Amino acid sequence: MRPHETLADELARARDRTLHLVDFDDEEVRRQYDPLMSPLVWDLAHIGQQEEFWLLRGGDANRPGLLTPQVDSLYDAFVHSRAARVDLPLLPPTEARAYCATVRGKVLDMLDTLPDDHPELFTVGMVISHENQHDETMLAALNLRAGAPLLDCGAALPAGRPEVAGTSVPVPGGPFVLGVDGASEPFSLDNERPAHVVDVPSFRIGRVPVTNGEWRQFVDDGGYRQRRWWSEDGWAHRQAAGLTAPLFWNLDGGCAGSRTRFGHVEDIPDDEPVQHVTFFEAEAYAAWAGARLPTEIEWEKACAWDPATGSRRRFPWGATPPTSRLANLDGQARRPAPVGAYPDGASAYGAEQMLGDVWEWTTSRLRPWPGFSPMVYERYSQPFFEGETTGDYRVLRGGSWAVSADILRPSFRNWDHPIRRQIFSGVRLAWDSHV
Ligand SMILES: [Fe+2]
Repeated sequence: MRPHETLADELARARDRTLHLVDFDDEEVRRQYDPLMSPLVWDLAHIGQQEEFWLLRGGDANRPGLLTPQVDSLYDAFVHSRAARVDLPLLPPTEARAYCATVRGKVLDMLDTLPDDHPELFTVGMVISHENQHDETMLAALNLRAGAPLLDCGAALPAGRPEVAGTSVPVPGGPFVLGVDGASEPFSLDNERPAHVVDVPSFRIGRVPVTNGEWRQFVDDGGYRQRRWWSEDGWAHRQAAGLTAPLFWNLDGGCAGSRTRFGHVEDIPDDEPVQHVTFFEAEAYAAWAGARLPTEIEWEKACAWDPATGSRRRFPWGATPPTSRLANLDGQARRPAPVGAYPDGASAYGAEQMLGDVWEWTTSRLRPWPGFSPMVYERYSQPFFEGETTGDYRVLRGGSWAVSADILRPSFRNWDHPIRRQIFSGVRLAWDSHV
């Protein structure tokens, strides 16, 4: 199959997801559910605007497009904070949908004309990644919406193996190849490149993410009230924000009673990975559990390295693309799968559920790999690197249930402020070891 056909399929899948997430009446789509999030109608038109900007205007702001410069500028994420977007004179939902459709038609025509090895194909992949990333953001917004549910509870998931909760696997020390190159992963983004050898001391890593049941013990043990488990910044935030449990848990007399998920109030499943915790909570939990969080380099080694062949696997389990038997991705489940649900998705070291389910906090700040060079979208990573103005970001790895399988790789790096937890963030523990 020509790369064009794969890309056209991926464009279509991303658009199906997007339109499903704005398939509500105009008033709903214009609402802002939380100051942390944009109204859905902003995301919708921004998806189209970025697609037009990168693929039809060559990334050149001076090249005229379908929107007036004034309207075009409303969708610049660097200019307008999420909190302020609801007050902008945004395109109405019907016009936003029509604009996205017009752009898409022109993009598909353009795609047809490109030769197989044209560099613009990378940019198409980047735009697909962008749309899918916004779909996840829109899911996070919908999850914050108060009131009766708009979305159902989500698709069925495989059963877990609860006995694997709390267990770990060893990762012997030694060099491995961190990151990827364009030759092996042509659609990898700038911050994943280049591939380079890194030596990592031995460590252990959780076989699966930390579960709600384990987290409940931390709550019941007074973990949120005991200063000793928290970093200085973490404790200050815990105090200021009044954190007592993961976001969306409803405490009943101090104990975790239920949770709210996309408006549905339900029991908290003990064997499901905990989500909606900040980096600071993750760090405190790890200290309480006698562990630590992994670095992102450790995480990537445990996910992608195959010590038997001395090479990277394309996915934790091997070369085949993700399926519903291997990982919980694509957003249909609207929740993480129980731990142990994907034994066939284990990495070479035996770590499971590395891709999908929850984004996993690491201790790492966002830094460029040696030899980094920015891609066509130069501000994708670079403004967020440590040392710039916004350097408190921590890296999250592995993707959540809400991430599209079309865009996820073991080398994919996400980042956010350590106080954020409206994202689908969870925890995998690590330990120093001397194997
Ligand atoms: Fe964006």
